[in-house]
Amino acid sequence: MHITVVPASPKTGQATIRSLLADPFNPTVRAYYRDLSKVPSELKSNPRFEAVKGDVEDAGSLDFSGSDAVLNITPPLYEEKDIIAHARLVSENVKAAVKKAESVKRLVLLSSVGAQYAHGTGEILTNHEAEVVLKDAAPEVVFVRCAYFMENWATALETLPQGFFFTTLTPLDHALPMIAVQDIGSTCAAELLATGTALPSSPHIFELHGPRAYTSADVQKAFEEMLGKSIEMRSVEKSGLHDFYAAVFPPGVAAHFAEMNKSYLEGGILYEDPQPTPGEKRYGNTELVDVFRQMLGAGESP
Ligand SMILES: NC(=O)c1ccc[n+]([C@@H]2O[C@H](COP(=O)([O-])OP(=O)(O)OC[C@H]3O[C@@H](n4cnc5c(N)ncnc54)[C@H](OP(=O)(O)O)[C@@H]3O)[C@@H](O)[C@H]2O)c1
Repeated sequence: MHITVVPASPKTGQATIRSLLADPFNPTVRAYYRDLSKVPSELKSNPRFEAVKGDVEDAGSLDFSGSDAVLNITPPLYEEKDIIAHARLVSENVKAAVKKAESVKRLVLLSSVGAQYAHGTGEILTNHEAEVVLKDAAPEVVFVRCAYFMENWATALETLPQGFFFTTLTPLDHALPMIAVQDIGSTCAAELLATGTALPSSPHIFELHGPRAYTSADVQKAFEEMLGKSIEMRSVEKSGLHDFYAAVFPPGVAAHFAEMNKSYLEGGILYEDPQPTPGEKRYGNTELVDVFRQMLGAGESP
């Protein structure tokens, strides 16, 4: 089986490629990078891996001919641009390339919990836009709606050496589903390798969560367990979210991140979830402490 990953540079793309190359089914993988210097060196020597230069912003740079399946990721944009229009453009480019390559039977889209909503979810609206464009891109379409990435907590690495981290997940006992990137990679790989197996419907949509939901207090405990010392948690209240994100992002991006963050806190659309994803939920095995162990480097203390 031949599989294309586009773009390949996001951490979820990398995790999927590693799962595919480790699979006994021995698929071949074509991976799109807008910058070929980003290709991880350990992949370059694998005879079943091919890195090609291409950008989802440029339809002419994408050629999926010969591929049975495609994994598409909507790249996040941290610039002061219309992120919804950008998501529409890159999704339409991918859809056109899928349609042009008659060999592609299945498209798997890495999406997000909450992608069914057309308002009130901030940055997740880019995943909504991608789903709208790609719902009929191939004979078999799968949307993997991922929960909050455990790796998002990597932002804490900056402040942990000073003994604290910021949390925007409030109140501190509010539990949120979280998923490890490694589990996203193995789930997407399995969906790609199942190309040709009948789906219950197309698009087939499911949510992907970790083994359990975690609170900010769980996150603090996991950091303390890893580091062997007490760590202070500084919570950012709902009213302070915009200023918190505006300290690192341009104003438009900060507004989208603040809205996304509010959407899963009490009163937000994802908290209420009036139109939940129907059907099954899937659960990864990787725990938060496992991700933190990797993130912090075994045995190191910041
Ligand atoms: N974070 C969460 O909690 C969460 C939850 C659910 C769903 N999601 C979704 O997951 C996706 C993000 O995945 P991720 O965290 O794996 O991303 P990521 O690691 O933050 O990846 C960003 C990458 O996108 C690449 N990129 C940006 N613009 C590109 C373009 N025009 N063409 C090709 N590549 C481009 C960049 O590649 P370069 O190396 O070339 O710069 C960069 O490596 C998003 O769709 C997001 O909405 C996230």
